[in-house]
Amino acid sequence: MKIVKTVAEVRAQVKEWRDAGLTVGLVPTMGYLHEGHGSLVTASVKGNHKTVVSVFVNPTQFGPTEDLDKYPRDMEHDSAYCEELGADLIFAPEPEEMYHEGNTTFIDMTVLTEELCGLSRPTHFRGVCTVVGKLFNIVRPDRAYFGQKDAQQLAVLKHMNEDLNFGIEIIGCPIVREDDGLAKSSRNTYLSPEERKAALVLSRSIRLGQAMVQGGETDAKKVIDAMTAEINTEPLAKIDYVKAVDGRTMQQVTEIKKPGLVAIAVYIGKTRLIDNFFVE
Ligand code: PAF
Repeated sequence: MKIVKTVAEVRAQVKEWRDAGLTVGLVPTMGYLHEGHGSLVTASVKGNHKTVVSVFVNPTQFGPTEDLDKYPRDMEHDSAYCEELGADLIFAPEPEEMYHEGNTTFIDMTVLTEELCGLSRPTHFRGVCTVVGKLFNIVRPDRAYFGQKDAQQLAVLKHMNEDLNFGIEIIGCPIVREDDGLAKSSRNTYLSPEERKAALVLSRSIRLGQAMVQGGETDAKKVIDAMTAEINTEPLAKIDYVKAVDGRTMQQVTEIKKPGLVAIAVYIGKTRLIDNFFVE
């Protein structure tokens, strides 16, 4: 498996594969890979002849007071893990390779970015869409893989792919959880042992909401109130949002119906964690 740092090297390698008639899958990541990312790489390796994993902590998707500088990085582990999973190429550019001096072009999306994380992190999806759009143009994959834990991101990127005619198949892969239910996240590493226990309140409230919806409850307020009450039993937890939205438009709903999404963002101490369930 090769590791390259420049756009030119990625393009040259992908051209070679294309000339040989091979299909290419892309797994965009910010590194510090865990089994959640692993499931995306595995899906890509299964579904394509060649797999490119990008490892890039994208500065434009972090707000000014967010954790860009302390975001965890471990390239040695990431490359060994990708190799073990059968990936073919890691693209690990420096920020200057992705954003040349004087870069003034960004991809902005309305509607789908108005609620949930888009409301709490107003510049986040502009950064995500821009970097993923650039990666799509650099790699030109047949398929791209994203986790359902970032459910709004997945909906936004599917929409961008249609709006901007990238013509890529966007594949969402299920949330991967620790044995005790906590959704895998690179940010789990910020949690102290006490916070790690407290963080279980996220998956507990998700299970509670999901059981209510599976039991036939469609009143969004009732589901949200029950999930909120569950989260508020944990003294270390501070709710950012608990919301039910339409699964395609990401706009809030009062009645939960298919396709729907119930999503939460909760601070455990200083660490902001997200979780969700789809209603499909
Ligand atoms: O989900 C992530 O890790 C990032 O938002 C992504 C898609 C790699 C863009 O930087």
